[in-house]
Amino acid sequence: MKILVLHGPNLNLLGKREPDVYGKLTLAEINASLSTLARELGVEVVCKQSNYEGELIDQLHQASGEFSAVIFNPGAFTHYSLALRDAVAAVPRPVIEVHLSNIYRREEFRQHSVIAPVAVGQISGLGKISYLLALRAAVTLAGE
Ligand code: DQA
Repeated sequence: MKILVLHGPNLNLLGKREPDVYGKLTLAEINASLSTLARELGVEVVCKQSNYEGELIDQLHQASGEFSAVIFNPGAFTHYSLALRDAVAAVPRPVIEVHLSNIYRREEFRQHSVIAPVAVGQISGLGKISYLLALRAAVTLAGE
């Protein structure tokens, strides 16, 4: 079983970017923890990051053929990208939305996700643990 982890804009800066909000871990460290958990669970994870909306859409289009589930942190696109929402809705596999920060205790514009209504579920506010829980959920959901 292969799971796609898709990180959206600015997440390549993790570790340096607002560490009080997003933590001190780099994206490479989060991806390494996901790979370790994937090995324990007997699945494969492929982690990708893009700062471009169109690239994220292309990745979601390609996901259905290759992956059993998708873990997606759309970054700021979460709050307004209807194009990404449509792309998520078109993936015939479970897509789990994740956020490092708790978007519901931040600025008002972050408290609404246009992705959530088309995702199978959302995990927000637990830092790296958001991704690790999402991986466990993705493996269970993809196996159902
Ligand atoms: C984020 C939350 C978004 O509001 C923000 O734009 C991000 C990161 C998170 O993981 O907490 O880039 O998706």
